[in-house]
Amino acid sequence: MAGLIPQSFIDDLLDRADIVDVIDRRVKLKKSGKNYMACCPFHQEKTPSFSVNPEKQFYYCFGCGAGGNALGFIMDYENMEFPAAVESLADSLGMTVPREQSQQREERGQRDLYPLMEEAARYYQRQLREHPRKTTAVDYLKGRGLTGEIAKRFDLGFAAPGWDNLLKALGITEERKQQLKLAGMLVENESGRVYDRFRDRVVFPIRDQRGRVIGFGGRVLGDDKPKYLNSPETPIFQKGRELYGLYQARQANRKLERIIIVEGYMDVIALAQHGIDNATATLGTATGQAHLEKIFRLCPEVVFCFDGDAAGRQAASRALEAALPCMQDGRSARFLFLPEGEDPDTLVRSRGAEHFSGLVADAMPLDRFLFESLASGLSLDSLEGKARLSKLAAPLLQKLPPGVYRELMFKELAERTGMATEALNQIVAPPAAPTPTPAPAPRPRQREPLARGQAGPSSLVQTAIFLLLHHPAAAQRVEDLEPLRRLEGPDVALLLELLELLTRRPESTTHMLLGHWYGTEQGELLNRLASQERLIPPEGIENEFADTIDQLLHHPKSRDFEARVDKLKHRNYADISELEKLEIIQELREKRRRDEERGRKQ
Ligand code: UTP
Ligand code: MN
Repeated sequence: MAGLIPQSFIDDLLDRADIVDVIDRRVKLKKSGKNYMACCPFHQEKTPSFSVNPEKQFYYCFGCGAGGNALGFIMDYENMEFPAAVESLADSLGMTVPREQSQQREERGQRDLYPLMEEAARYYQRQLREHPRKTTAVDYLKGRGLTGEIAKRFDLGFAAPGWDNLLKALGITEERKQQLKLAGMLVENESGRVYDRFRDRVVFPIRDQRGRVIGFGGRVLGDDKPKYLNSPETPIFQKGRELYGLYQARQANRKLERIIIVEGYMDVIALAQHGIDNATATLGTATGQAHLEKIFRLCPEVVFCFDGDAAGRQAASRALEAALPCMQDGRSARFLFLPEGEDPDTLVRSRGAEHFSGLVADAMPLDRFLFESLASGLSLDSLEGKARLSKLAAPLLQKLPPGVYRELMFKELAERTGMATEALNQIVAPPAAPTPTPAPAPRPRQREPLARGQAGPSSLVQTAIFLLLHHPAAAQRVEDLEPLRRLEGPDVALLLELLELLTRRPESTTHMLLGHWYGTEQGELLNRLASQERLIPPEGIENEFADTIDQLLHHPKSRDFEARVDKLKHRNYADISELEKLEIIQELREKRRRDEERGRKQ
């Protein structure tokens, strides 16, 4: 499951991480006895049933059954895949994830693209200074009000007219040609002819957060179409994650207070030209959640800037949807609508920086934009209008992460509609009314509340598993796995796997075991069992474990009984007739009596 990340590293990582820290940073925890509690982020609840056990380094929700170790929590809470969760946790601890062979090779291939892209950027810049036809480009940029200094800050360049300037200058070996193609700088047509992607355009190198050139945008010098060309998606360039100008914004500001998101390259650069150096642009794509997460990791506020026309409004609605799941307490998003026909570039040039900054300062808060845009066209004096507003707003508010802000938004909706918060929750709770655009995956991943049922072990095999989880060292008490392999029944395979794992890696702790089965059906069972408190001291557990194994091996009768109980367990409790229940209880009593007798004889 760990893929190419060495298991030893994952163990080490879990050892150094403190799950209380990891969770508390995302969900405020309250100490309660030796555990910590909170309202569960994975399902809706009012009283806390989410508990974190610092000693065993795992969490469990008694309400919905969510559980696992620190990595599992990050995966579910941040909606991340395993490798990303490892990266994130390692990052927060200042550790670097080592990779095994093949991945390393792949990453080396990617790493080689970066210097090549930097070379391409330098090449285009040189062309802007030296190419015989540079004046067309230089004049164009000057005509748009840019100085040499700002051109330098953004490394603006010139892709001269011609089919193979870059190809000839940089693609001097077959390998480099291949790499240029991989990086999207060369295009191959159907007949196999390879040529430069960017021709007769001013080019804008796109840098990632670390300042590495990962792609380019290019603008025609006149009115040709297409006006802008962008690098395609490549191994090092993903439009859904990158923001143009973010690197420069970070360079220019020691501490970013806010980031403005505009639509175009030229908007970012024109604003910087006027001293507004915290603007970024998405790259011909809508603003998505990944963009926003990136920004919110750097600063607490984002201001979206849209044209005042219908298209701008529509883009704003999409941005709103992307922003909702990111709105943890302390973050803020606002919306600025420019006068029709203007963009930040034209506006800052005609009205100046102060005017533009004033508009940004007065931008509309997310809550106002949300309620006002939904309410437009509804008559809120009528009951029907109010009901309609609740129906539209509730599914949106539901995308907000748990927190004070979310509570306030629901309150606000309640006030605007005159509906009680409980009634609103009713609208929210059943399968949400279809929203116009598909909702992005909620984060954190939500779960159904658990049906009330058994929490503790419900069979001998489960008891053995339960004891092992609480005290993995007990595994040493099983000298020979062979007889156990002959057992049949549910969970036996899991018990064996646990024992095998503990033979290979006897130092495994509870949370490492949970991590190993994370996200599987067995993992659910393990979480549930691990959550049950046990007051027996470790030596006691070892003895009890040995006993349990012994019973499993030598008392086939009790095993049949286990199988029956297990079968019943999988049925709805209400389906089991009273008689059956009584039978089970009777058998349980007999079993205990037998066990006690056995104990007295020894
Ligand atoms: P706009 O068409 O709004 O252009 O595109 P602009 O930024 O105002 O351009 P100027 O002022 O005429 O130079 C906004 C963004 O949309 C993408 C680019 O990222 C551009 O910056 N775009 C636009 C394209 O990718 N291709 C196009 O043909 C046009
Ligand atoms: Mn423009």
